[in-house]
Amino acid sequence: MSGRIPQHFIDDLISRADIVEVLGRRIQLKKAGREFKAVCPFHDEKTPSFTVSPTKGFYHCFGCGAHGTALGFLMDYDHMSFVDAVESLAGMIGIEVPHEEGQHPVQRFDELFELTQRVEQHFQNELKNNEQAVAYLKQRGIDGATAKRYGIGYAPQGWSRVLDKFGSSPEAIERLLAVGLIIRKDNGSHYDRFRERIMFPIRDSRGRCIGFGGRVIGNDEPKYLNSPETVLFHKGRELYGLYEARQALRHIERLVVVEGYMDVVGLARNGIDFAVATLGTATTSDHLQRLFRLTDHVIFCFDGDRAGRDAAWRALQNTLPLIEEGRQVRFVFLPDKQDPDSFVQAQGAAAFEQAMDEGVALSDYLVRELSSGVDLASVDGRARLAELARPLLKRVPAGVYRELLLETLAESVGLSAFKLESLLKAGGESKREKARGTRMSRAPRTIHAAATGKPSVLRRAITLLLHHPVAAKDLDIELLANLQRPGADLLRDLIVNVQAEPGITTAGILERWRHHAHGQHLSKLATIEVPFDDEFDAAAELAECLQQLARVAARDRIDFLIEKERLDSLSTDEKAELKALGKSPVRPQVSMD
Ligand code: UTP
Ligand code: MN
Repeated sequence: MSGRIPQHFIDDLISRADIVEVLGRRIQLKKAGREFKAVCPFHDEKTPSFTVSPTKGFYHCFGCGAHGTALGFLMDYDHMSFVDAVESLAGMIGIEVPHEEGQHPVQRFDELFELTQRVEQHFQNELKNNEQAVAYLKQRGIDGATAKRYGIGYAPQGWSRVLDKFGSSPEAIERLLAVGLIIRKDNGSHYDRFRERIMFPIRDSRGRCIGFGGRVIGNDEPKYLNSPETVLFHKGRELYGLYEARQALRHIERLVVVEGYMDVVGLARNGIDFAVATLGTATTSDHLQRLFRLTDHVIFCFDGDRAGRDAAWRALQNTLPLIEEGRQVRFVFLPDKQDPDSFVQAQGAAAFEQAMDEGVALSDYLVRELSSGVDLASVDGRARLAELARPLLKRVPAGVYRELLLETLAESVGLSAFKLESLLKAGGESKREKARGTRMSRAPRTIHAAATGKPSVLRRAITLLLHHPVAAKDLDIELLANLQRPGADLLRDLIVNVQAEPGITTAGILERWRHHAHGQHLSKLATIEVPFDDEFDAAAELAECLQQLARVAARDRIDFLIEKERLDSLSTDEKAELKALGKSPVRPQVSMD
């Protein structure tokens, strides 16, 4: 491998990577308020002091001081080089790492997100203009507030509405292709993918639109059309409605998995705002891991038809490896021909809640399915059941839950658990299972918490900006023009970078400075806690810091000019400037380091 990895690719990578996802694949994370906690993998401890902030893209252990970004974690935990960590993270997201001499043109994610957002808005505006589409939604029981909450829109008829509006240059057309909104014909011309469809934006965990689902209003085929797999959109990972559920709920007690867009929206309309849908695919273990990171209680509620029952069984199979004590998984089987949407529209939210409460526990569902069609009265039948159960039970991690499952199964087939286990064992144990060892905890790292002591205004400003990059959006960097203090250049650089890259996270900043003299210093500042409550107004605080620094800067300027005056080398302009400055109350009231 050769070629430097462009900085903007690292920016994009960090902004796209979900640190909770990256770390969650390697260590056990538990949600705690806005953050996630874990037993620190870098030193021995019993109570978790390892904290992960999804919004900042940053982790920090209050015990041993270990901290960093998703990339840093891969480097430290998996002992990867920087380049390997970049490759690995890109692989997880499903994108290719460009190298500067490579010939692949690189699509900037922020540009793609900006495009999807504008198109989403366009579809919403079109919906307002289209009576037929509005009437359709009304007839399906969707009110304006719900449509708004899910950003539902409409793609009117026509082959080039989106193309004409958003594809004004060759680059713009490439971007439309990259996000799957237009299709290229063999002759090189293009047309809109979505026409005459109700449009459902699909969002990532940060609420950005990564793709669309479109439903026909009439009876055309296919009923639903989804965005294709793109650099932004991977069906097997995404869950429709998850972002909206996270927005609506402070604490996610449970999540219900349904099959369709309209199920999610219909349930939300009826006050059940914790439904998510897979996007025309089976429930994958990626999906499930995401769900279990947010809640311990997952309910599957698929359509009451053959396909729905098959989907439930597949979901069960994919859930088995993730089962553990404390996790509750239930299955709701709706009456034939019903789906969650039709059910809740017809019977109301209370009936749906009740159906969920009465859902079948995973263990019961498993036993029920396995024992159906097997003659348990016969020895052969019991052996057959053991045969069926073996591959499934093997997927369940050893532990209390597996024991319970075994007992339930044994009881219902009239065998002792011991006997059943020996029947199960008859098939032998997989090599992989034996080989799977437990990871030893690593020695603590020797990074200490950042220095304490009263922070200077400059340092406070840098820290605030690092923790709340968006707070720097409207800062006037000119205020700092004359500031001559250690750290002033860094602060100016930070502001310029953050303003040029709105949406950059703490982790994004740290990655930009990784190979920079100040990188270490910044990453230590990122471990300092700043207030987090909703009232805390980082932008106001940062603006206040800048005002103070402006006064310091003016003081610096005066000192500079006075010195120059002493040397008798002031220009006319400078003389005027000094006079003007001398009149303003510029003596700083703040202490500088
Ligand atoms: P359903 O046909 O059950 O959808 O497909 P639904 O939500 O009940 O549709 P309504 O109520 O008729 O509007 C479930 C999901 O399967 C995917 C979509 O994600 C849909 O939401 N699907 C279905 C497709 O991708 N393509 C199709 O043609 C049909
Ligand atoms: Mn339906």
